[in-house]
Amino acid sequence: MKALVLIEANSLPVYQATADPIPAEGEVIVDLKAAALNHRDVFVTQGKYSNIRFPIILGSDGAGTCEGKEVVIYPALNWGNDPRFQGKSFEILGLPRNGTLAEKIAVPASHVFPKPAHLSWAEAAALPLAGLTAYRALFTKGHCQARDKVLITGIGGGVALFALQFAKAVGAEVWVNSSSDEKIAQAIALGAKGGANYKTPDWNKQLEAAGGFDIVIDGAGGEGFGTLLKLCKSGARVVSYGGTIGVVPNFSPQILFWKQLEVLGTTMGTADEFGQMLDFVSQHQLISIVDQVLPLEEGAQAFKRMEVGGQFGKLVVMTY
Ligand SMILES: NC(=O)c1ccc[n+]([C@@H]2O[C@H](COP(=O)([O-])OP(=O)(O)OC[C@H]3O[C@@H](n4cnc5c(N)ncnc54)[C@H](OP(=O)(O)O)[C@@H]3O)[C@@H](O)[C@H]2O)c1
Repeated sequence: MKALVLIEANSLPVYQATADPIPAEGEVIVDLKAAALNHRDVFVTQGKYSNIRFPIILGSDGAGTCEGKEVVIYPALNWGNDPRFQGKSFEILGLPRNGTLAEKIAVPASHVFPKPAHLSWAEAAALPLAGLTAYRALFTKGHCQARDKVLITGIGGGVALFALQFAKAVGAEVWVNSSSDEKIAQAIALGAKGGANYKTPDWNKQLEAAGGFDIVIDGAGGEGFGTLLKLCKSGARVVSYGGTIGVVPNFSPQILFWKQLEVLGTTMGTADEFGQMLDFVSQHQLISIVDQVLPLEEGAQAFKRMEVGGQFGKLVVMTY
């Protein structure tokens, strides 16, 4: 089969022929139609993950056919028994196990779920990892309801955009921040009430217009995180799913305890939550926001685009 193979750190994956996957006991082969990138794939190419092995086929998101059925793949492996957190042998598809940026993949049979019928292959492939992360962050952790004001950071990102769509679907009021005025305008077109450009010095003042947030969904961390706490109403829930910017230097315990805030961490989700997320997407007929669709042989371009944060939505690679 053909695949995008990462040969070494600090390089882009290369389109090449490689051996077909051999399913282990309890596994099935999915003939992939489309795969999508997550920021994790870029972090791996930059050598920012521990235990990277080479060569490796990256990619956690995939949709295709399996035994005559149209399926999407649940990308969390070995979650374990406790729905509150993943167990010690937890893995994500696409490292250390070969991932979805290929024509075929072997996965446990329990990890193939029916594809939402209203989605194209590209839209379905865009959904798994980011949709699951957004679903758990917003509903399992954030308990988002119609009455909530929700702030979602870095709205150009894959997880952030699903969080926007999911929060709007239950009737919540959504505000965003972004590095780009254009992306804020695109988010408003999708139903966000307003937003602020975090590159401007007074972005927090602009978001104060919302009158305080009940829920914050953040994938950035870094210096802006302390500001997010200041923008919260008392009793708010701040859900962190990522640390794109890194360490939080100005964390204030005073704000935390005085406002009685809850800061919650979240990572991907259980198989049950994956099934619930797919049902939710079907029920509300939500369509994944896809930034670009490329053929597999040009997939390295998608890595370049994600590295500079140019995208609004998911970067998808057609794999057949
Ligand atoms: N825990 C988990 O299960 C999980 C799952 C998925 C992702 N993640 C992590 O979450 C992060 C986002 O992942 P993704 O795949 O959605 O990435 P992505 O699609 O590449 O999006 C990253 C976004 O980060 C935003 N960003 C950059 N600097 C920012 C800042 N200073 N403040 C606020 N936002 C900023 C950008 O938004 P704008 O373009 O709008 O500026 C960019 O679009 C990554 O760190 C990833 O590793 C974790």
